[in-house]
Amino acid sequence: MLSAQSRTEFLLEKGWKFTRTDNPESYSPGFNDAKWQSVVVPHDWAIYGPFSSQNDMQKVAISQDGQKAAMEHAGRTGGLPFVGVGWYRIHFKAPQFAKGKKASILFDGAMSHARVYLNGKEVGFWPYGYNSFHFDITSYMKEGEDNVLAVRLENLPESSRWYPGAGLYRNVHVIVTEDAHIPVWGTQLTTPEIASDFAKVNLKTKLVRPAGSKLDDFRLVTEIKDANNKVVATNEAKITKYDGDTFEQNLFVDQPNLWDTENPYLYKAVSKLYEGSSLKDEYTTTFGIRSIQVIPDKGFFLNGKKVIFKGVCLHHDLGPLGAAVNEAALRRQIVLLKDMGCNAIRTSHNMPSPEQIKVCDEMGMLVMAESFDEWKVAKCQNGYNLVFNDWAEKDMVNLIHNFRNNPSIVMWSIGNEVPEQYTKGGNKVARFLQDICHREDPTRPVTQGMDNPGAVLNNNFAAVMDIAGMNYRPFKYPEAYEKLQQQLVLGSETASTVSSRGVYKFPVERKSMAKYDDHQSSGYDVEHCGWSNLPEDDFIQHEDLPYCMGEFVWTGIDYLGEPTPYYTDWPSHSSLFGIIDLASLPKDRFYLYRSHWNKEKETLHILPHWNWKGREGQVTPVFVYTNYPSAELFINGKSQGKRTKDLSVTIENSKDDASMKELKRQKRYRLMWMDTKYEPGTVKVVAYDKDGKAVAEKEIRTAGAPHHIELVADRTSLAANGKDLAYVTVKIVDKDGNLCPDADRLVKFKVNGAGFYRAGANGDPASLELFHLPQMSLFSGMLTAIVQTTEKGGKITLEATAKGVKGGKITLESK
Ligand code: GAL
Repeated sequence: MLSAQSRTEFLLEKGWKFTRTDNPESYSPGFNDAKWQSVVVPHDWAIYGPFSSQNDMQKVAISQDGQKAAMEHAGRTGGLPFVGVGWYRIHFKAPQFAKGKKASILFDGAMSHARVYLNGKEVGFWPYGYNSFHFDITSYMKEGEDNVLAVRLENLPESSRWYPGAGLYRNVHVIVTEDAHIPVWGTQLTTPEIASDFAKVNLKTKLVRPAGSKLDDFRLVTEIKDANNKVVATNEAKITKYDGDTFEQNLFVDQPNLWDTENPYLYKAVSKLYEGSSLKDEYTTTFGIRSIQVIPDKGFFLNGKKVIFKGVCLHHDLGPLGAAVNEAALRRQIVLLKDMGCNAIRTSHNMPSPEQIKVCDEMGMLVMAESFDEWKVAKCQNGYNLVFNDWAEKDMVNLIHNFRNNPSIVMWSIGNEVPEQYTKGGNKVARFLQDICHREDPTRPVTQGMDNPGAVLNNNFAAVMDIAGMNYRPFKYPEAYEKLQQQLVLGSETASTVSSRGVYKFPVERKSMAKYDDHQSSGYDVEHCGWSNLPEDDFIQHEDLPYCMGEFVWTGIDYLGEPTPYYTDWPSHSSLFGIIDLASLPKDRFYLYRSHWNKEKETLHILPHWNWKGREGQVTPVFVYTNYPSAELFINGKSQGKRTKDLSVTIENSKDDASMKELKRQKRYRLMWMDTKYEPGTVKVVAYDKDGKAVAEKEIRTAGAPHHIELVADRTSLAANGKDLAYVTVKIVDKDGNLCPDADRLVKFKVNGAGFYRAGANGDPASLELFHLPQMSLFSGMLTAIVQTTEKGGKITLEATAKGVKGGKITLESK
């Protein structure tokens, strides 16, 4: 006999009430929350602003960055009001719940210090805002009646080095099962053997059963289904008293489709739990069949093939959406990053959302899943150090249980630049955390980001790790290789080059920690931080040193907070490190990485823009980022000469100060015309292949007067699910369609039909304009407007208007 439905799972999304006032009675079922704000979860309470330098003003010296005296870091955490208390309440019914059933509540993350109350009783507490956690709520649930869930969250000041977001920013799930069931994250699936014509799949499944039930009555039937839902393997298992209430099954998939970054093939293991003849539970584990190996002196191997990490570090915020998770936004990130040739993401410096890992599984992106920015020794006075002793193990276990079946994750990271690197016994803490990873998941290597080579190469701290992850200082890689027994070096964090989209500084010189009155950094990609470098200083290591495993660039995309080098310069409040800006628009640097990382596609990109009124006759260098070896440049038809990438540049012959200054390494990867003079008109580049044949050309022109608004959507066909997003690039162009690179006027938006205006951003790290209002000023002629669907299909129109130019209109379809 099959019971009707053995498991139900639903999200608590709509119908929440929210407040920022901390009334201790808010937990009580009868509490009157009518005056609270109505919100939909995932919800980030702080992203709506307003910005203020006083929001989490941190008077500190960031010793890591070499600061000796405390200074006022105004925008360090984004200048948004995330500090303080927030309460959420919701009434929900769970018709499937009845006496004898079980219920759990699962939070994918709650920022932070979540205290969860159900029907007036405290169910549990979880301090770390980035982690997933769950509670058994069976004894608190009401049968057939309203249940009242209340959650109190509290964010401490000086608890973060970046914008953490606030609130129930990830999903909340209610799970109702039979008395006998498979618990949350109850399976562990590995593929211990992958032969040429079959793969062995090992599945361990936990059983939770009522007291008094007979072990012998239970059996688990698992089917493996391929991507077309065809059953390709089955197994039925019993359990004995020797099995610790865990079923173990081995299944064999013939001619398996392997998961990799090009072909991210996913299987499903669908397990049915029976007690006698009655179906008690059905549980699906999505997985990929793939092998990973780390081989000394050789590197990282996926399915036996060497893969060099062309990775980026990403913070969890989604720019103008804040921390509120959205799958469409995460997909868009990966579309952009894949186009650049990026194959890996480091979830710096905390646990990812399930949606992020799902899209990485589905789209073929490798992941280093990180856990902490801080252990016992404080980096921020109210940071994770306050709870490390009691919570570190629980947090690591939850991270690993949540994601150990996901093929995209190829490495765990136990931390980032923790001061334990140079404090006594730090290596023991590293060992403790790495052991937890090995215990919970013996299949993946463990790393961490270390930025103090002077200490960690000499005190066993780096030696403990499966993989030594070095942050910055690539010139130390040879020493790391020489001293460490792992015989491999990972660039766990690299570059920290700073730039602003469409902003260029003269003269073009390599600079460290340069600041300007406009709070921007040069788009010529020649500026970096005191501890960091330019992209080529990393490219050359990972290309020329066989023991380098590749890199994770800081960062793929700009994020809220950390406006380095403008630490104290309000209104700077978001990063300049991104290859892509906060509005998810590629900066020039995107094409530099693309030219090096994505050799299959043509890249031919010219910078800067060519609107330099007032610079006539002055030296205005032109750079070309291209995958071709050489190119010739023409200004108004006059040849400026041919440049060829200089492959005679080596790590050794380019490391002295003079070489750094004259951009010697850059000459191996970029084509640069340093002496070109500005005159309005046309800049044209003709690219040549290795045989000297002209194969491609590109042109940019001086734009005339602003004429009209151009709107281009990343996707015009959307899902009518109330969550899908279109990212619309908004530009002001001249009458011929050339971008007006100085345009900064205000654009106003109107959305009609089956969608609404969700948010916008222009990528200016010093802009205080609010993201959610349907208007924004252009930055370097562009911005991004994000439109969200409703649950009803139909046409959506976005209209954009600005003073003095013809407006724009675009129609999207939601189905
Ligand atoms: C690193 C750190 C990152 C970020 C970066 C900026 O030291 O791990 O979180 O602060 O520097 O360059």
